[in-house]
Amino acid sequence: MLLQRPLLVIISIWGVGAQQNPSPDILDYINPLIGSTNGGNVFAGASLPYGLAKAVADVDGQNTGGFATDGSRVTGFSALHDTGTGGNPSLGNFPIFPQVCPDGEDVNTCRFSKSARAMGYVNDSVVARPGYFGVTLENGIKADMTVSERVALFRFTFPSSADSGGATPLILLDLTDLWDSRQNASVSIDTKNGRILANGTFLPSFGVGTYKSYTCVDLYGAEIRDGGVWVNDRASIEVQNLYVTRGFNLFYLQAGGFFRFNHKVNEELTVTARVGVSYRSSKQACENAEKGIPNPLEDFERLRTQAEDAWREKLRPISIKSGGAVRELERSFWSGIYRNMLSPQDMTGENPLWDSEEPYFDSFYCIWDSFRVQHPLLTIIDPEAQSRMVRSLLDTYKHEGWLPDCRMSLCKGWTQGGSNADVVLADAYVKNLTGIDWNLAYEAMVNDAENEPLEWSYEGRGGLQSWKRLNYIPYLDFDYLGFGTNSRSISRTVEYSYNDFCVSTIGKGLERDGYTTYLQRANNWKNLYKDDQTSFINGTDTGFVGFFQPRYLNGTWGYQDPIACSALASWCSLTSNPSETFESSVWEYQFYVPHDMSSLITTLGGDETFISRLDFFHESGLADLGNEPVFLTVYQYHYAGRPGLSSNRVHSYIPSRFNTSTSGLPGNDDSGAMGAFTAFSMMGLFPNPGQNVYLITAPFFEEISITHPQTNRTARIRSVNFDPEYKRIYIQSIKLNGQVYTKSWIGHEFFTQGWTLELVLGEEESSGWGRAEEDRPPSLSMGLGRDVSMDMDGSGADVLVS
Ligand SMILES: *[C@@H]1O[C@H](CO)[C@@H](O)[C@H](O)[C@H]1NC(C)=O
Ligand SMILES: *[C@@H]1O[C@H](CO)[C@@H](O)[C@H](O)[C@H]1NC(C)=O
Ligand SMILES: *[C@@H]1O[C@H](CO)[C@@H](O)[C@H](O)[C@H]1NC(C)=O
Ligand SMILES: *[C@@H]1O[C@H](CO)[C@@H](O)[C@H](O)[C@H]1NC(C)=O
Ligand SMILES: *[C@@H]1O[C@H](CO)[C@@H](O)[C@H](O)[C@H]1NC(C)=O
Ligand SMILES: *[C@@H]1O[C@H](CO)[C@@H](O)[C@H](O)[C@H]1NC(C)=O
Ligand SMILES: *[C@@H]1O[C@H](CO)[C@@H](O)[C@H](O)[C@H]1NC(C)=O
Ligand SMILES: *[C@@H]1O[C@H](CO)[C@@H](O)[C@H](O)[C@H]1NC(C)=O
Repeated sequence: MLLQRPLLVIISIWGVGAQQNPSPDILDYINPLIGSTNGGNVFAGASLPYGLAKAVADVDGQNTGGFATDGSRVTGFSALHDTGTGGNPSLGNFPIFPQVCPDGEDVNTCRFSKSARAMGYVNDSVVARPGYFGVTLENGIKADMTVSERVALFRFTFPSSADSGGATPLILLDLTDLWDSRQNASVSIDTKNGRILANGTFLPSFGVGTYKSYTCVDLYGAEIRDGGVWVNDRASIEVQNLYVTRGFNLFYLQAGGFFRFNHKVNEELTVTARVGVSYRSSKQACENAEKGIPNPLEDFERLRTQAEDAWREKLRPISIKSGGAVRELERSFWSGIYRNMLSPQDMTGENPLWDSEEPYFDSFYCIWDSFRVQHPLLTIIDPEAQSRMVRSLLDTYKHEGWLPDCRMSLCKGWTQGGSNADVVLADAYVKNLTGIDWNLAYEAMVNDAENEPLEWSYEGRGGLQSWKRLNYIPYLDFDYLGFGTNSRSISRTVEYSYNDFCVSTIGKGLERDGYTTYLQRANNWKNLYKDDQTSFINGTDTGFVGFFQPRYLNGTWGYQDPIACSALASWCSLTSNPSETFESSVWEYQFYVPHDMSSLITTLGGDETFISRLDFFHESGLADLGNEPVFLTVYQYHYAGRPGLSSNRVHSYIPSRFNTSTSGLPGNDDSGAMGAFTAFSMMGLFPNPGQNVYLITAPFFEEISITHPQTNRTARIRSVNFDPEYKRIYIQSIKLNGQVYTKSWIGHEFFTQGWTLELVLGEEESSGWGRAEEDRPPSLSMGLGRDVSMDMDGSGADVLVS
């Protein structure tokens, strides 16, 4: 009934208004080069949404995602990539590379090895658009590329040359990847048909084991002169097959195959390379290629258009009315959403490890990064894809015995903290994603919570005996059941606590008796709270007392400086300076009790102290905006009844730390996590993942509408007094579907039912809205987890659903 209120006319990109005022193409707002330098590590090339084929130029600089705008040189063009990841460069298997060799008579005048062939690119020649990437090398060779699902199409245009002295175009394939992780590989050249087949065994960039990769490259558009193989800087046209291994001391040989082409004087020459990829077989790589791009010489524009349409379709649920906000903010928003849909990649049908009818997605890289905002964003804008991803996680559990925590290239990745797939499952559960076997989900989560694997460095959790007996992860635990890096006792304790809360959520929903055990363990974080711990910075007391501290098996406290592992002190990872907190400080993990903020606030001394702590944390340099654990801390003022301060905080970080420059991300994008943070923040609704909760702040645009792709209902967030200069960033009052709404949060029904939030903004923090105890977001100690039904308007009556 309330849904039938007259709606404002929205000038939406696709709406009626679009016809009156021609709006630019939504894709014009997407800049894939955001975060292409300074550690963003984004994949800047051509991909479909969740596409396996990801084509881009690979450089010899910051090449984790293939390309970078850091001034480094191009070493190849390849079709498999991850996006935003840290650590070792990922994938980039079997790059191809075009060049003009000076002397056609002597093939050894060509430059084969990576360092010899590396070629700078013309900075302003780079064109990066959804589904398309183009670049011109300093030697004048132009490359552009597009993709379909499992095949990339590259065009290399060799400039015309007056030289008749035998200069000869060549395209080589290198039996390598970005990280030179290849263990062994084969290549065979079919000169008659212009086809190169290659396969090889490689290492995952942040995981254990090896994986096999296959490619099938067909060349078109030019007469093949000859072809052969190369090893280091020597080559021969006499040989068409090559197998390389690693020998003495795992010595690494550079090697591959090549074709040379006839080139007429004074004419440009365009060679088209169709690159099919597969993780199953060469045959499948070729079939993928033939099916995806049947007519390589004619298909380029068609593929590009298809890719663009696929992206427009994915963005279609969302529209904004900017209200005068600067263009760059719109670009940040749309680009963030775009990056959130690059990975995980849909590899259904490409999994060689088990046969299944279930979907298979790969590059959950890592769930420690993606559970917080990436998956929650997909749940809103692409619930079907998110549901398929969850099914893939469960199918992986079924066949590998464990839910993934990090997974790439068909391998298990290193675990950073807890078993955070548990959070992804609980999030899907409370948001009613469909098509998921919840009994299997619960079984998988209980497995995480109860059974310690021998190797908990890449699956499950470690220290479970202590966890169950002592109710915390001890410092220097004695753990003879399983093995992992015996560090991070504090961060693992707080993450396991939340993971157990998530287990209890599904257990309770399914009416399983055991759920109360997990609800109990969700309190375990309390056991590492040392109430007299102080924190000094350079000898100056911060004045705050009470912090998490490491604790030995015998109950005695250990010590970790609360600022250790922050930007003010040192970097701590699994291998570098391993500590009791992972990649962040006690200060930052001190706030990580997502399910019981109310109890945490009490523990830390009440609202006022909690707020000063958050302020100090954000203003002292302790907050690390470049890494995911910080995300929720931007919004936790809500839990102390001061949602206006969250709004203020997020408006201080965007655009100063998240913007549209190539160095516009504060850290690794991590499969789009930074993009999702930006998008949620701009929308004015921020998830607390695993719970049916979005925290409300002042959006960056006057109106945002999201049509739920399954219910087709449109949720709207509209700001009255919207101010594009962002002086009015404080919510004064809210109407939900026309009725006064005093809570500072809302549930996912907002999206599925298509409700309307009308926010009235002002220059000063409101003394009313969101402040009262009962208007704060839910906490375990205040009923969350015990009370499944969420009374959205606080009246006890469900007035909102027509
Ligand atoms: C190209 O960009 C890089 C990175 O910003 C810069 O170092 C280099 O100087 C630029 N080259 C030219 C020719 O402008
Ligand atoms: C390639 O290397 C992998 C990993 O070392 C090994 O398991 C495999 O047997 C090798 N393959 C061949 C064909 O030698
Ligand atoms: C790998 O490629 C070589 C050369 O084409 C081929 O002989 C071999 O059968 C391939 N191996 C697999 C497992 O496809
Ligand atoms: C999920 O389904 C239940 C039962 O139908 C309903 O009460 C609840 O509101 C739904 N939640 C969401 C987020 O749609
Ligand atoms: C601590 O002192 C050192 C040496 O004076 C200085 O370099 C550093 O910036 C100081 N750190 C902080 C957080 O004030
Ligand atoms: C507890 O264990 C730690 C580490 O082994 C030791 O330093 C401490 O003295 C022990 N405390 C007691 C009370 O035994
Ligand atoms: C853009 O973001 C980057 C990364 O956080 C930051 O270093 C830079 O100062 C920001 N630029 C602007 C103009 O705010
Ligand atoms: C939503 O719209 C799509 C496309 O128009 C349609 O196929 C689907 O049945 C609709 N779903 C509902 C629940 O109305």
